[in-house]
Amino acid sequence: MQSGFWPEQVRGLLEKLGIEHPIIQAPMAGGPSTPELVAAVSNTGALGSIGAGYLSPEQIDSEIHKVKELTDKPFSVNLFMPEEISSLVISEKVLKQLEKFSRELGVELPEVTLEAEFTFEEQINVLLDNDVQVFSFTFGVPGKNIVDRVHEKNITVIGTATCVGEARALAEAGCSAVVAQGSEAGGHRGTFGSTEGTPMIGGLALVPQIVDEAQIPVIASGGIMDGRGIAASLALGASAVQMGTAFLSCIEAAVSKPWLDSLQNSKDTSTLLTRTFSGKYARGIKNRFIDEMSPLENEVPNYPIQNSLTRLLRNASKDKGNADFISLWAGQGSAMSRKSSAQELINALVTETNEVLKSMSSKL
Ligand SMILES: Cc1cc2nc3c(=O)[nH]c(=O)nc-3n(C[C@H](O)[C@H](O)[C@H](O)COP(=O)(O)O)c2cc1C
Repeated sequence: MQSGFWPEQVRGLLEKLGIEHPIIQAPMAGGPSTPELVAAVSNTGALGSIGAGYLSPEQIDSEIHKVKELTDKPFSVNLFMPEEISSLVISEKVLKQLEKFSRELGVELPEVTLEAEFTFEEQINVLLDNDVQVFSFTFGVPGKNIVDRVHEKNITVIGTATCVGEARALAEAGCSAVVAQGSEAGGHRGTFGSTEGTPMIGGLALVPQIVDEAQIPVIASGGIMDGRGIAASLALGASAVQMGTAFLSCIEAAVSKPWLDSLQNSKDTSTLLTRTFSGKYARGIKNRFIDEMSPLENEVPNYPIQNSLTRLLRNASKDKGNADFISLWAGQGSAMSRKSSAQELINALVTETNEVLKSMSSKL
């Protein structure tokens, strides 16, 4: 695709990120976004992202080095902004239900402590020491000192917003661009600042409102699975898109067989928003764990306590090839997933986007 073809708002962000296509592979913490996936995406001229939120500083360092062995193109590293853990008190009913699942799977429930194994500061230092081109994050807004240190290294900073107020806060903090995460999105809601619960604004309404208010480039995210979704996002004023679910079924992604099967067998009504797995709202495909935990949804402890409590259950379920207790994160477009290499997917996305944009302008 010729870069001159893009609207000005797109060209500006492509230049800033040093990429050719306005497509970002979403960071997917917990395993799916392997170094092979990130590098394959970046090698096509789109932007690959390492989902480093759960990784220790040593693991982040190693992932960055693996990606750099496979590509000399820009890629992004994504972290989670740290959150206050308010209380370690866990409801008896929640514990009882989780113990029932543990017995069934033959695992123990872990001891959960307030001690973190590493700090956000240690994680970000690895990015600063490694000449990474893009830093993205979710679940919060970094202090000005962090953003200044990142900018000093000429790193582009991208935050995540689920409403206009959050986007404004990210722009004021000095972010270079903002991901507008619509309610269609797979995985966790990036919500941090809202006093009105978890905003659930669909992308069609969210993207133009953030474009009008944020004064920085906007990256549309949530439910975008093909060139029609990309063209629509650009029409709404976005400068690029960030796609997660579409990349889960790429051959370079690390996604367990039960998860892949669930994606392939999913339909438009298969996903829902739940806090039962982690204590924070996230969208995934319905399964037995969600069905049986949902009556206790409001009693589940906040993230990251519930996330730690359910980790061994999720891993044991995966090891047994059983989808019942896995967090099958996926967006509302999961039924449009296609199995291919990252390169084939991006080639198809670019061609489709071009075709949609051309056919629309030729009808004018
Ligand atoms: C499996 C999975 C894991 C995700 N992990 C992260 C993450 O670590 N950091 C982040 O900023 N966003 C994460 N997201 C959200 C994506 O950035 C993006 O908003 C979402 O995938 C867009 O919706 P879609 O999946 O319908 O394309 C994740 C999404 C999925 C599906």
